[in-house]
Amino acid sequence: MQVVATIFMTAITPPSTMWERYPQYGQLMFKRAIGDSPEMESAKSAAKVIKPHIRPNDRILDVGCGVGHYLRSLQRELNVPFHYTGADATASYIALAQQAWAGTPNVTFKQANIFDLPFGDGEFDVVMCNNVLLHLPSVQTPLEQLARVAKRVLLVRTLIGDRSFRIQDVQSHERCPDLFQGGANELEFRADGEPVSAIWYNIYSQNYIRQVLMRRQNVESVEIWEDADFDASKINAEVGRDKAQHGVTQASGRIQTNGYMLMPWSYALAQIKR
Ligand SMILES: C[S@@+](CC[C@H](N)C(=O)[O-])C[C@H]1O[C@@H](n2cnc3c(N)ncnc32)[C@H](O)[C@@H]1O
Repeated sequence: MQVVATIFMTAITPPSTMWERYPQYGQLMFKRAIGDSPEMESAKSAAKVIKPHIRPNDRILDVGCGVGHYLRSLQRELNVPFHYTGADATASYIALAQQAWAGTPNVTFKQANIFDLPFGDGEFDVVMCNNVLLHLPSVQTPLEQLARVAKRVLLVRTLIGDRSFRIQDVQSHERCPDLFQGGANELEFRADGEPVSAIWYNIYSQNYIRQVLMRRQNVESVEIWEDADFDASKINAEVGRDKAQHGVTQASGRIQTNGYMLMPWSYALAQIKR
């Protein structure tokens, strides 16, 4: 019986991620969700991009929603009623989201793994997934899952360029002491050369993202374009404010950077047919 229970738990529990060990990030998103911190530049941008595709009473799914802070921008930007579902793998973020949005009508949160979304085919009119795919070890199954649960439109914001790169930002005790259990003497790479703790910042080629999406029968067309719609000065102002962040980004002109990484933020918008 014990064995059966253990196998069942393994099957339904999302993989343990760095996010579970990063409660400060949840607090930053919580402040945005309750309006104590400004809306994110990418949340404002995504709300503007999705606006022309929204019809009254649409069901919107936001995958990798964090604390549901994009809902603040959607509420301000969209001038029709809509239903919002936020899904995220990190249990503590979902708990914070439920706290931040308690009592808000037509708003639901669910713990969910993007590799195996617990939703039906075409259950949501519009599906969005912002700033999540870059951090995953692979994106083929996540893209297929997102397209599967979408009825009309899928919007993805991630790093897309003319070539694909696998990039890991390796954390060290010096920079992220809370992520290291072994204390200050623990090195950032193990003896086998693998990092103790790292986060992906993968860039995918336009061609790959388009082809994975177009392979699904329900995807009619895919449009990909660079997101140049953010205010660099606001991103830089946040660098000073949120020094505790592990992956704080800066902007130089229209190019956003993180350490030595250049970040080609882009949107992929898929039109779905049912
Ligand atoms: C960089 S945050 C983005 C949050 C929000 N969308 C934003 O743009 O501010 C990445 C989010 O993806 C979530 N996440 C990571 N792996 C996931 C997975 N396998 N399934 C669902 N969500 C995941 C994390 O918990 C985290 O909230």
